[in-house]
Amino acid sequence: MSGPPRTDQQREAVRDPGRDVFLRAGAGTGKTTVLVDRFCSAAVDPDVGVERILAFTFTERAADQLRRRVRAELARRGSQATDPDEAEMMREAEEKTERAWISTIHGFCRRVLASHPTAAGIDPRFRVLDEPEADRLAERAFDAALDDLVSSGDPEALELAASNWRRSLLEMTRSAYDELRSQGRASPELPEPPAADTAARIAELVAAAEAAAGPCSEGRQTPKAIANLERIATAAQLDPGAEAAMELLEQLAGLKLDGGGQSFEADEGVAYKRALERARGAVAAVAMREAYQQLRKLVAAFGERYESLKGDRSALDFEDLQLEAVALLRGNDRLRERYREQFRHLMVDEFQDTNALQLSLVEALRGPDTRLFVVGDEFQSIYGFRHADVDVYRREHARFAEGGEPNGVALPLTGNFRSAPEIVAATNAMGSGLLPGFEPLAAGVSEPAPGTGDPVVELALVTEDRAGWEDGTVGLPLLPDDPSPAHKIAEARVLAARMRELAATGEDPAEMVVLLRAFTHVAAYERALSDAGLDPYVVGGRGFWSQQQIEDMRALLAVIANPLDDEALFGALASPAGGAVLPDTLWLLRRAAASPPREEGRKERANHVWPLLRDLLAEGAPTPGNGFADRAELIPDDERARLDGFTRIVGGLRSSGAEGGLESLVERAATAFGYDLATLVRDQGRERWANIRKLMRLAREFESREGPDLGAFVEYLGTRAASRDREAEAATRAEGHAGVRLMTVHAAKGLEFGIVAVPDLGRKLQLGWVSLRVEAGEERPDGTETARVGVQLGRLGRPSERLGDYEELKELAADRGAEEEARLVYVAATRAERRLLLSGTFNPKSLKKDPLARRPMAVQIIRTLLDGDPSTRVLDVPAASADAPAGRVDVRLIEPAPGIGAELTPSAAPVAAEPAPDASSPPLGRPDPPPALAGGLSYSALSGFERCGF
Ligand SMILES: Nc1ncnc2c1ncn2[C@@H]1O[C@H](COP(=O)(O)OP(=O)(O)O)[C@@H](O)[C@H]1O
Ligand SMILES: [Mg+2]
Repeated sequence: MSGPPRTDQQREAVRDPGRDVFLRAGAGTGKTTVLVDRFCSAAVDPDVGVERILAFTFTERAADQLRRRVRAELARRGSQATDPDEAEMMREAEEKTERAWISTIHGFCRRVLASHPTAAGIDPRFRVLDEPEADRLAERAFDAALDDLVSSGDPEALELAASNWRRSLLEMTRSAYDELRSQGRASPELPEPPAADTAARIAELVAAAEAAAGPCSEGRQTPKAIANLERIATAAQLDPGAEAAMELLEQLAGLKLDGGGQSFEADEGVAYKRALERARGAVAAVAMREAYQQLRKLVAAFGERYESLKGDRSALDFEDLQLEAVALLRGNDRLRERYREQFRHLMVDEFQDTNALQLSLVEALRGPDTRLFVVGDEFQSIYGFRHADVDVYRREHARFAEGGEPNGVALPLTGNFRSAPEIVAATNAMGSGLLPGFEPLAAGVSEPAPGTGDPVVELALVTEDRAGWEDGTVGLPLLPDDPSPAHKIAEARVLAARMRELAATGEDPAEMVVLLRAFTHVAAYERALSDAGLDPYVVGGRGFWSQQQIEDMRALLAVIANPLDDEALFGALASPAGGAVLPDTLWLLRRAAASPPREEGRKERANHVWPLLRDLLAEGAPTPGNGFADRAELIPDDERARLDGFTRIVGGLRSSGAEGGLESLVERAATAFGYDLATLVRDQGRERWANIRKLMRLAREFESREGPDLGAFVEYLGTRAASRDREAEAATRAEGHAGVRLMTVHAAKGLEFGIVAVPDLGRKLQLGWVSLRVEAGEERPDGTETARVGVQLGRLGRPSERLGDYEELKELAADRGAEEEARLVYVAATRAERRLLLSGTFNPKSLKKDPLARRPMAVQIIRTLLDGDPSTRVLDVPAASADAPAGRVDVRLIEPAPGIGAELTPSAAPVAAEPAPDASSPPLGRPDPPPALAGGLSYSALSGFERCGF
C-alpha cells in the first residue's frame, strides 16, 4: 500500500474483498480514501478487473475526482511494484480507469436506458430534461390538469379551484408527486382519503377539556381568559356521536384558544390544544372528503398530462431515469442477471444521501456474487430537500450491524485526518450539542498541543441591535437600498476584516472560502470582502442566470413578445437596454396611464402603459380619455425622446418578429437599442457582452428544440433565472482567481479547504412549509399501504382547514428540517483544514427562551457550546470522548459602538497578490468609447468579440 500509511481501522475496512461492508464514519476519516483502496485492489484482481466494478458517487464532480484518485493510486502502486508483471497489470488497470463504471446513479441509469431502449420501452433518441425545463413542462401540465378539472363542471371541483390559490395547488400537487416518485412510485396517486375515527377524537377532546378546565382557570380572569374558559367548557359538552359535517367543523373552529395568559400554556392547556387540532383534522377529513377527492383527481390528471408532454418530446426527467431503470431491471430477468453477473463489486460513496428508489436500484443490481461496499455519515446528510432520506441509511446500517447480512459487517472509522485537532475539538462540541446521537471523532493528525499559539477556531457574535448598528456614529457603510439589515452587514464586515488580517500575516486568500447556507445575504459578504481588498468570487448560484445583462435582455424580449407586460416594460425602460429612463419618468408614466376614477373618492385605475407610449409617439400627446395628458406633459423632453426611440424600436422588432430565428432576434434587440455598445464601454464590458453572446447561443438551441416561439423562450429564461443549478459547480479553484471564494454548503460537499468561514449562523431556519404532506407507511399483509396524508385546504369564505394528520406531519417535517439545518453547519465546519471562522448574529433576548430546537443555529451554539454566555473570552473546549482532542475557541462579542463601523472597513488596498498575467487573455482594458453611442456603429463592427470563450 502506498500514500499515507493507513490506520488499523482503514486496513480492516478493505482487508477482505469477499465481505459486504457498511462503513459508517465521520467527516474526513478517509471514507473515500478507503473506497479508492478497495477499488484499486479489485481492479488488479485477475478475477475482477476495472470493468467489473460499479461505483456510485453523489455528483459528477465527485465522480471525476474519484476517477482521478483511483488513477493516482494505481500509478503509485505501479511505481512501487518490484515485479514487472505486476507493474504492467497496474498500468493496464490505470488505462482502463478512463472507461470505468464510476458515475452518479442518474448517470448510470441513463447509460443503462440508452443501451436497452427497446427493452425499456422508450424512444431510443430520448432526451433528458434539465430541471428548469422539467419545471416548465410541469407547470404547463398543471394548468392543463386544473383546466380539465374545472371544465368537468363538478361543483366540488369548482369550489376547490376557487378557494385555493393556483400557486398553492401547484405546490401541493408537485410536492406530493415528487415525494411519491422518490419512493419509487412511477404513477403517483394520493392515498385514499384519510380514515378518521371522529367519535374517538371528539371523545378525546371532551376528556382533554374536562382535564383542562380546572388548571386553566387558575390564572388571572382577563376577558381573553374568560372567553377561553367558555370555549373549554363548551368542548367538554361536545357529543362524540355528532355527525362529522361542516356545522361541527365550524363549531370546533370556534373552540380554538386565544392567548389568555400562563395558565393556558401549562400541560393541560397544551393537551387541550393538541386534542382540538386532532379532532378538527379528523372531522375535516370527513366533512371535506369531497374536496380531497378532487385534489386526488388533480394530482392524477397532472401526472397524465406531465407524462404526455414528456412523451411528445421523447423526454425523461431526472426521476424518470431512475424509475425507468429500476423498472427495467426488475421486469427483465435476462438483463438483470447480465448486470448482476457483470458487477463483482458495487460501491456507493455518500450513502447517507440516497433514497428508497436509489436503494432499490442497488438491490436490483446486486446478485449473490456481487460484493457491496457502502460508505457514509448520517451527520452529513444534507439533501433532504431533494428527497434524500437519511432513514434509508439508518435502516440499512442497522441491518448490517444486527447481522441481517449473512456476509456483511458494519465497520467504523473514527480518526479525522482533515482538520487540525482544535477544529476537531470544536466540531465535536458542536456535533454533541446540536446533533442527536452524535459520535465524536478522534484527531488523526497530531499537532502541537492546544494552548500553544493562537486559537485556530474563532466565533464572532454580533448583536441583533438593528437601530444601534444603523446609528450614524457607528460609521457602518450602509447603502440606502441594501437588502440586508445593518447587523448582517456588520457581521459581514467583521468577517472581512478578520480575513484581511489573516491575509496580512501571509495567508493566501485563495485558500479561504466562505460557506453559506443560502445566498440571501451574499451581496453583503461580497461587498465587505471586496472593500477589504480580498477580491471575492461567488461560485455557482449567482452565475450566468442572475447576471444583469441576462435580466435586462429578458425584460426587453418580454416586451417584444408582449408589450402589455408592464413589469417587463418598466424593467426594460429602466435598464441600459431601454435607454435607462429615469425613475421619475417611469412614475409619471404610470400615473399618466391611469384612468380617472369613475366616482368621487375612488382610486384611479391603473392601465397598461404601452398604449400611452404608442399615443405619445403617434400623436405627440395621449389621446383624450386615454390617461392624463397633463401628467405626460411633465415628462422632460430628453426623456420623451428616449421613450420615443424605445417605442419605435420595439414596434419595429415586433413587426419583423422572430423571422430569421430567435438567435437573430436576440442579436437585433441587443444592437437596435445600442445595448451592445452600452455594455462594451462599461467596466469588464467584454465579459458582459460574452453573456449576451451566450444568450444568443441558448436561443438557437432553444429554437431547435421548441421552435421559434419568443413567448416560450421568455418563459424559459424566467424559469432558468428562478431555479438553482442542479449541481452548483464548485470549482476547487476558480481558474486564475486569487481571491476569497464564496459558495453554498451544498456545493462544498466532500471538499476541503485551508481556511473556512461559516457565517450567517443567525439566520432563521428553513423548515419547509408545504400545504400537503404524504408519508409512506408500512405495507399491510394484504399488500395495501398505510400511507399517511395531511393537507391544508381553503374553503370559500371561511378559514382553511387542516385535514387528517396535517399537524403531526408538519411537525415531523419541521423537526427533520431543523436537524438538517444543524447537519449543514456541521458539514460546513468540517471542511476546514487549518482554521475555522464561525460567526452569526443573535438576539440577546432569545438566549433565555425555551425550547431550543428550531432557533437559529447561532442561538443553539451559544446555548450548548458557550453555556448561554456570549461574552468575549478564550473558551476551553474539553475532549468530547476519551480519544477525542481538547481545544479552544476564541469567542468575540461585537456590539455597536461609536466608530466601530469604520474600524471594520479598511481602506480597499488589495492585499491579494496580483494574479500572474496570462498571455492568452490580456488584462481587460477599457475600450475607447465609440464615437456615437446612440447608433451608427453596427454590431458587425464588433464581431471580434465573437471569439470569446463562452
Ligand atoms: N491514514 C491517513 N493518514 C493521513 N491522511 C489521511 C489518511 N486517510 C485519509 N487521509 C486524508 O484525509 C483527508 C480526508 O480523506 P477523505 O477520504 O476525503 O475523507 P472522507 O471521505 O471520509 O471525508 C484527505 O486529505 C486524505 O488524503
Ligand atoms: Mg468523502
